[in-house]
Amino acid sequence: MLDSVIDLLACPQCESALDLDDTAVLCERGHSFDIARQGYVSLLTGAATRFTGDTAEMIADRAAFLGAGHYDPIRDAVAAACASVPSDSGVLEVGAGTGQYLASVLDGMPGARGIGLDVSKPAVRRIARSHPRAGAVLADAWAQIPVRSGTLGHVLSVFAPRNASEVHRILEPGGALVVATPTPEHLRELVSLPGMVSVDEHKTERLSAALSGLFERHDRTEIRFAMELTRQALDALVGMGPSAFHLTAQQRAEMVEVLPDGFEVTASVTVSTWVRRPGDRHRQNGAFSGD
Ligand SMILES: C[S@@+](CC[C@H](N)C(=O)[O-])C[C@H]1O[C@@H](n2cnc3c(N)ncnc32)[C@H](O)[C@@H]1O
Ligand SMILES: [Zn+2]
Repeated sequence: MLDSVIDLLACPQCESALDLDDTAVLCERGHSFDIARQGYVSLLTGAATRFTGDTAEMIADRAAFLGAGHYDPIRDAVAAACASVPSDSGVLEVGAGTGQYLASVLDGMPGARGIGLDVSKPAVRRIARSHPRAGAVLADAWAQIPVRSGTLGHVLSVFAPRNASEVHRILEPGGALVVATPTPEHLRELVSLPGMVSVDEHKTERLSAALSGLFERHDRTEIRFAMELTRQALDALVGMGPSAFHLTAQQRAEMVEVLPDGFEVTASVTVSTWVRRPGDRHRQNGAFSGD
C-alpha cells in the first residue's frame, strides 16, 4: 500500500516530501500525481522516457514461472543477502517486475516496508498487490529516482537496471545494494537455440567497474542449479525474458515444441551485496541532500 511508503518518496518535479489523499499523491508546492485505480502512482517526470519496460504478456509469464517456484534458490539468496546487512528502514526494488522478490524480502523483515519501482504499467499493477507493506511506483530507474536521500536500508536489482549514483544517494549510511545478475552459463541450453538472446560475457566486470567507486563489495554468492522444465514452463521462461521482445508467439511455440517435455535447463546467477561507501557526490539541496 502506498501509505506505508509515502514518507520515503520525493516529488519528481521539485524533490519535496509527498503526502497522500484518497486519490492523489501531493507535494507541499502543489504538484499532484494521480493514484491509479490499481493502486500504483506514476511519478514519471514530464520528459517522456524512452523505456516502456516489460509487456503485460511478459509480466504474466514471469508471475507464472516464479510462482511455480523454479527460481526459489535465487529468491532465497536475495533474501539472505538482504538479511546479512540488517536494517528496517525501507527496501526499494528497482525494475521489480511482479514484486515477488520484494515480497519475499519483506516477509523476512517484519519491521520493514518496500517500494517496487518499474517503468512498465503491467508490472506496477501487479506490484501494488504483491505485499501489504509494499507500495508501487511507475518511474524510470535511469532518471532521478523519486525517493528521499539517505532513507533506505536496502536496494535490490534482480535481473534489472541499476543506477549507481542514484542508488548511492537514496541509501542510508551503511545501507546495501543487492544485485542478482546472470552468468554466461545461465539458461545455456536455451540460449544456444536460434532467436534467443545471450548474456553479455563481461557483465560481472562491468558491474564491478560501475559500482566500486560508490560501494564496497560485502559478499558475493554464485548460485547454480538444474531445473527440469515442462514445455509450459519453458514457454513462460522464454516469454518472460529479453528474447520475448524479438520472437513472435508463433516462433516461440515452434521453438518449445521440439524440446522434450522435461528439459533440463541450468540456472546460474551471481548475487552480490554492496555496502554504500560514505560520500556526498550527489546534490546537496532540499530532500535530496547528502549525508
Ligand atoms: C528482467 S525483468 C526483472 C523483474 C524482476 N526483478 C524479477 O527478476 O522478476 C526487468 C524489469 O525491469 C523493468 N525495467 C526495464 N527498464 C526499466 C527502467 N528504465 N526503469 C525501471 N524499470 C525498468 C522491466 O519493466 C522489467 O519489469
Ligand atoms: Zn513538487
